Amino acid sequence: MSVEHSDLEQFSEIIAATRALLLSERSRGVHYLPVTPPDQLAAALEEPKAVSQPEKRRQARAPEQTLETRKQAKAVTSKLYGDLSPALLEVYNEAKECVQCPLSEGRKQVVFGIGANDADLMIIGESPGAIEDVRGEPFVGPIGDMLNKMLVNVVGLSRTQVYLVNAVKCKVKGGKSANIDEITQCKGHLKRQIKAVSPKLILCLGEAAAQSVVQSSKSVEELRGSWYDFEEIPVLVSFNPAFLLKNPKFKRPVFNDLKLLAAKYDELGGAR
Ligand code: URA
Repeated sequence: MSVEHSDLEQFSEIIAATRALLLSERSRGVHYLPVTPPDQLAAALEEPKAVSQPEKRRQARAPEQTLETRKQAKAVTSKLYGDLSPALLEVYNEAKECVQCPLSEGRKQVVFGIGANDADLMIIGESPGAIEDVRGEPFVGPIGDMLNKMLVNVVGLSRTQVYLVNAVKCKVKGGKSANIDEITQCKGHLKRQIKAVSPKLILCLGEAAAQSVVQSSKSVEELRGSWYDFEEIPVLVSFNPAFLLKNPKFKRPVFNDLKLLAAKYDELGGAR
């Protein structure tokens, strides 16, 4: 079979164009392209269908997703945090690599946040303990059990109806509280999580949470019982369940705080 010079020229043009396309895909983070089975190839070569206006608006809102971010989204979905909204996924991808403060050296993993991506109530704790560090999830173990019970029995919401997060995403060595530098370093991630979830109400449990959100160094004792706001979202402060486990006499004040919270939640039309 003889090959014409013009065929060779066309062939090299196709190779060059394919190479350029693959290099551009690689620069966008795509390292793998599926082979299209022949029966799907015809469909893929068909004229694209007209895109409806609502679909165009949806596409304009959604951030561009490379194959890499889609794979990460799938991994996150199947692993721990459920389906992450694109805005939360973006924060997660940054937070999980964070080495902004020395706490990153002592962690097993970043404990991000968990719950309904569009929850009307966001609960902000202080920092992960040893169990959370292993599990990668905030408020687990005996402290988590206590929080779950308080939520269901007093507020009437389950753990999966709210969004749980900590002011500081890495374990603090020796079970200590996070210091103001660590709280400040982590604040950017927390702020973006609040923005992504956009809750109607925030509950801060413990001093580190209050310091981050209410920006006050007062004690929980002094702060509780009043409403504060974070970018127009009402914020209530109460004791952390870790503190309650050691000091059960504070259960009554926490019960009162949660009643106040539940009433505000209903007043603002929080989902039940
Ligand atoms: N576990 C957490 O994840 N946060 C707290 O504040 C306390 C225990």
